[in-house]
Amino acid sequence: MAEEGKFKVTIDGITVDVSPGTTILNAARQIGGDIVPPAMCYYSKLEGSGGKCRTCLVKVSKGSEKDPRPMPKLVASCRTTVMDGMEVQNITSPDVVEARKGVVEMLLINHPLDCPVCDQAGECKLQDLGYEHGADQTRYEFDRRTFERIDIGEQIQLHMNRCILCYRCVYVANQLTAGREHGVINRGDHSEISTFIENALENDFIGNVIDVCPVGALTDRTFRFKNRVWFTKPVDAHRDCPTCSGKVTLWYKGDEVLRVTARKDEFNEVEEFICNSCRFEKKKTADWLLEEPTLIEKDSVITANHYSVFTPPPVIKQNPKLQEANEEQLARTERLK
Ligand code: SF4
Ligand code: FES
Repeated sequence: MAEEGKFKVTIDGITVDVSPGTTILNAARQIGGDIVPPAMCYYSKLEGSGGKCRTCLVKVSKGSEKDPRPMPKLVASCRTTVMDGMEVQNITSPDVVEARKGVVEMLLINHPLDCPVCDQAGECKLQDLGYEHGADQTRYEFDRRTFERIDIGEQIQLHMNRCILCYRCVYVANQLTAGREHGVINRGDHSEISTFIENALENDFIGNVIDVCPVGALTDRTFRFKNRVWFTKPVDAHRDCPTCSGKVTLWYKGDEVLRVTARKDEFNEVEEFICNSCRFEKKKTADWLLEEPTLIEKDSVITANHYSVFTPPPVIKQNPKLQEANEEQLARTERLK
């Protein structure tokens, strides 16, 4: 029986009680570990995000306690809310793994395989998905879509070739800044991010589009080609900022701060959005109060020879089955304490 007022949902054999209205993806995030579906467009801090990329597909093998029929097709876990007694398969379903492989193939139809020269390499979720699910050859015979690079403002560059049209940057512009100046124009194969007559995006929080972009389509012009991310050393720092929380990660090479980003959680989402001034103008150690080396998720190439962490969601502590499922990650967290 589920706790009072909660729904019981079982994902890959692990049961968790969640509030009604929770999506399957967020229920899986409460469990943590490897069963969390990948999400290329959903972003918990951006209202309305999700439903665009289909990487989070899962199989609902039992609809609910009342109506146990399975759902006829795979569903996007970021957009499907749980029902009481629902059973879901993610990595335990061969159908899901096969479908995800197809989704990755689709996402890569137009995306160039230019990781060796892309600034996002090492922290690109599409690169990770490509390694996990990608086929070694493309079946696509047509030319990829190509665009000229566009500098949008002084600090941001858009390389539309790499865009997967997840809409996250559009939501950032809509929800964090006073005036919206960019969006997706055209439809289908002709869709592209555009700044409407290439207006420069100039407002205090627009730099966050760089952090939310899951691929290398929006990059920081003040950091481009300065270094590979795995040669840098991330350190958490803060300052007293009148515009934002001032909590950031500084990316060091030796004594030099090469770039400043917002801090990200274990799902690769920004914890608190930061302002342009912190991001682009404060690149001296003297501007900041340093805290400690940033803890980076275990799968990232950035953790090579560095450190690694898994922050166990509170629900894991209460459930021995969840502890068992996350055994490896918990052991690593203990080791690194
Ligand atoms: S530019 Fe990046 S954040 Fe914006 S829609 Fe394309 S992939 Fe998403
Ligand atoms: S994360 Fe669910 S569709 Fe993109």
